[in-house]
Amino acid sequence: MTTPIRWGILGTGSIAGQFVEGLRALPDADVRAVGSRTLERAEAFGGERGIPNRHGSYEALASDPEVDVIYIATPHPMHARDSILCLEHGKHVVCEKPVTVNSGELEQVLGAAKASGKFFMEAMWMYFTPNIRLAESLVRDGAIGKVRMLTAHFGFQADADETSRLLNPDLAGGALLDVGIYPIAFALLMMGGVPKRMTSSACLGQTGVDEQSAYLFEYEDGAIAQLSSAVTTTTPYDAWILGDAGRIHVHAPFWGRCPGYTLYQGDDEEGTYVSEPLRGNGYDYEAEAAMQAIRDGLTEHPRMPHRRSQEFMATMDALRAQWGLRYPFE
Ligand SMILES: NC(=O)c1ccc[n+]([C@@H]2O[C@H](COP(=O)([O-])OP(=O)(O)OC[C@H]3O[C@@H](n4cnc5c(N)ncnc54)[C@H](OP(=O)(O)O)[C@@H]3O)[C@@H](O)[C@H]2O)c1
Repeated sequence: MTTPIRWGILGTGSIAGQFVEGLRALPDADVRAVGSRTLERAEAFGGERGIPNRHGSYEALASDPEVDVIYIATPHPMHARDSILCLEHGKHVVCEKPVTVNSGELEQVLGAAKASGKFFMEAMWMYFTPNIRLAESLVRDGAIGKVRMLTAHFGFQADADETSRLLNPDLAGGALLDVGIYPIAFALLMMGGVPKRMTSSACLGQTGVDEQSAYLFEYEDGAIAQLSSAVTTTTPYDAWILGDAGRIHVHAPFWGRCPGYTLYQGDDEEGTYVSEPLRGNGYDYEAEAAMQAIRDGLTEHPRMPHRRSQEFMATMDALRAQWGLRYPFE
């Protein structure tokens, strides 16, 4: 039996609970500790889930000698601070997306990661979920010929509460950083990198953040990606990759950890539906990948390397610059 890797959970919100549930699918993952800004919330979160070590501050969690790797699940503007805290305490780190709010913050985190020699990865679960991996392999193997176009959308109608994380500028709210990162990550994965040119449009709402936004990516070879995101409008949750010899319809690539895809080749109009069942709730795949990389002594994961996080942040910085969207703390 492999020695279990001991996880600490930093923050006790919605995604933290789902990630812990994902870890339960991995017999070699030990959810050892949780840290919250208050001991009360750490006790409540840890008590409900049988997590033994419960800390009333993030510092106490980062100092816990029984923890190997910390999963950061705080709002975006705290990601840099919390990642650096954990790296400086000698912990490996898996940090929720977006990894930071801008490229400047990311460079500080990567500096701390380098200095610590510890593993650091942005938790882009989509890169590890089985049906996306299968669809990507088909694209790479030329199953649909040369990719010419791609469409991907991710938007939902959130509560109109202007103080919520999604609309609050102090918490780096807006569609781009919260959900737009997924269609962008999907395009970079399937198109094989960043575009040569980006045009975009955004609707900035009452609180000044982008309630909905759309992006058009143009690649060197003429391929085009049309992407959109929203936190005030529900969009279709799907994506298409269109090649000169076929197409792939990816079902809910950003929701439910992607249940499957349909491949159409040549003149086939019926398509072949493929659905690899998920093992846990789907967050287990990114956690498993991080654990393997840590066991292998890596400081970044080859499938979600630091360079890819830099590409996400540079892309989102450039889009926000097109709209004049800066957060109050920037
Ligand atoms: N991968 C995914 O599928 C996915 C899904 C949703 C969200 N996310 C990402 O995960 C992060 C957290 O999202 P979430 O929906 O879980 O948020 P959430 O429910 O609001 O939880 C955030 C947690 O962070 C802590 N926190 C620290 N400083 C805070 C502050 N100033 N205001 C509010 N909370 C603060 C709180 O825990 P304590 O009070 O216990 O310290 C809080 O429970 C975001 O960056 C988001 O983009 C990822």
